[in-house]
Amino acid sequence: MKKTVLILSAVAITGTMLLAPSCKKENNTAPAATPTLYDSLGGTSMVADPSNSGQMIEKGRLGIRSVVDSTIFVIAADTSLNKFFPVLLAEVTGSNLSGFTILSKNLTDFFCVATGAKNFTYTGKDMVAAHDPAQNPRMNGKSSNADFDQFVADLVVGAKKVGLSDDLIGRVGRVVNTTRSSVVQK
Ligand code: HEM
Repeated sequence: MKKTVLILSAVAITGTMLLAPSCKKENNTAPAATPTLYDSLGGTSMVADPSNSGQMIEKGRLGIRSVVDSTIFVIAADTSLNKFFPVLLAEVTGSNLSGFTILSKNLTDFFCVATGAKNFTYTGKDMVAAHDPAQNPRMNGKSSNADFDQFVADLVVGAKKVGLSDDLIGRVGRVVNTTRSSVVQK
């Protein structure tokens, strides 16, 4: 497991991020729209992508991806949850990052859409199918409410590691909780 954690750690190094609120431009012709959680996470302003040299990325998406990758790293080291991810962990231990890359993208797309982003689409499985071992062989067993609570606790640790504020963590937590009845299947 140490090797897995080390490899995931290397992947998850996106640096501590400044997840400052975006600045909304005011004008006199139209009422300002209420900022979404995605706006508060950085919104659509373009910044250099620290993981892909020469590419730009929306600041909100970068913030979400950083939390996602950091959280996957925390879960990989959490012996109460990592048993659910045997396929992913075996791949990563064997230096195969294909499944990690897909999971990171799908989780990032999911949270972008769920927090109000307009420029991304979630194309992964629906939340019931993704967490039903019969429909997703990468999921080793059904999860309980306690597993879900532990997942959220790991998410908080992962988010704190990349510098997300307590206020934003609370707001992300409320979004995550809306998936509980689909994810918990035992
Ligand atoms: C807390 C809210 C959660 C959300 C929003 C969430 C979201 C997702 C998403 C978007 C995927 C990718 C689906 C796809 O690629 O088609 C996924 C995969 C998965 N999730 Fe969750 N999940 C949550 C909680 C949990 C919990 C509590 C567990 C286990 C205890 C879990 C275990 C897994 C596993 C094993 C996979 C497959 C990973 C792989 O690709 O190898 N998830 N989840």
